[in-house]
Amino acid sequence: MTATYESRYEPWDETRGAEIIAEHAEQEGATLVILHALQDAFGYVPEAAIPMVAQALNLSRAEVHGVFTFYHDFRHKPAGRRVLKLCRAEACQAAGGDALAARAEAKLGVSLGNTTPDERVTLEPIYCLGLCATAPSAMLDGRLIGRLDQKRLDALVAEAQR
Ligand code: FES
Repeated sequence: MTATYESRYEPWDETRGAEIIAEHAEQEGATLVILHALQDAFGYVPEAAIPMVAQALNLSRAEVHGVFTFYHDFRHKPAGRRVLKLCRAEACQAAGGDALAARAEAKLGVSLGNTTPDERVTLEPIYCLGLCATAPSAMLDGRLIGRLDQKRLDALVAEAQR
């Protein structure tokens, strides 16, 4: 059975998006700040927001889009209720990260970068969490987890699915 869960994000709304953009338009590094603020509010950066950011900052759409695509952290579609990020950078790969990522994909039934059909869990790659000494590492909704093994990964996936 497929269930839909209440999102912790606001639904995309152009007026609200314009407010957020205006709030941060004068800040240093405004493009990045605004993209983060939009994602914090809506859970992703809606395609429609890109030209709005460009206009507010007097940049081209391509420039804003370039920033958006450069950072792996920005999403172009809404995330699930929980976001599980698995580190795919070198130290974590060397410590068995590939097998753990494949295991998480199999358990959730989605590949990295996707959300389960019931919208419970988004599984994403991330490139170094600063926890290389305790690799392989992950992050569940902002909470860092190191020293992952199959057992700990299974527990993490189960927690994300709750
Ligand atoms: S490489 Fe994974 S935490 Fe640094």
